[in-house]
Amino acid sequence: MSVIVSPSLLSADFLHLYKDIEMINNSDADWLHMDVMDGSFVPNISFGFPVMKAVSKVLKKPMDVHLMIKHPENYIQQTLDCGAAIMNIHYEACVHLHRTLQAIKATGMKAGVTLNPSTPVNVLEDIIGDIDIVQIMSVNPGFGGQSFIKSSLKKVRKLKALIENEHCNTLIEVDGGVNGETAPLLIDAGTDILVSGSYIFGSKNPYSTIKSLKAL
Ligand code: DX5
Ligand code: ZN
Repeated sequence: MSVIVSPSLLSADFLHLYKDIEMINNSDADWLHMDVMDGSFVPNISFGFPVMKAVSKVLKKPMDVHLMIKHPENYIQQTLDCGAAIMNIHYEACVHLHRTLQAIKATGMKAGVTLNPSTPVNVLEDIIGDIDIVQIMSVNPGFGGQSFIKSSLKKVRKLKALIENEHCNTLIEVDGGVNGETAPLLIDAGTDILVSGSYIFGSKNPYSTIKSLKAL
């Protein structure tokens, strides 16, 4: 299976969002990654449900929603109503993680858990079979265009070993600093899904940049 590419809309041109969604629709991208920030869990604010709902009306690919917000359990229905296919919540933002994952899956969405750079993989060892996707943050969440934290590669390998030991189908997603240099290393370590923002939207030809990631 080739790697899944999920371009992050955070680095798109917000004045011409329709143009960038059309680019995603016509490109080899598999999903569209959307970053919601609350200014409390992370020190930044991005966009919210009304924007996602508008995007979902023209988007022809699965919406991969990354909620960098406190109390994500309060926003399951709204995330579903925005057309999300994947609801990714932070381990650090959710006290009753197992209950919340069950509630997300009951809606038909895929349930993802995201780990900050300082959160070890082993906090998920007892519930890994209940998680559709684990997303490793390879930068501190809140901003696009940051440098890749190299120790994330070791973390991906640890997560891969955990998934194999437990014989489950959990996919590994990596978010932050993904580019032409880091992507091959991440795939080699066991990454299934690459999130990439500034590398794709900041490139001269996003179509060929997406194609080059898919070809790895
Ligand atoms: C950061 C977001 C990322 C961001 C990645 O908090 O979760 O999805 O858009 O941006 P790049 O690819 O530029 O590091
Ligand atoms: Zn993200």
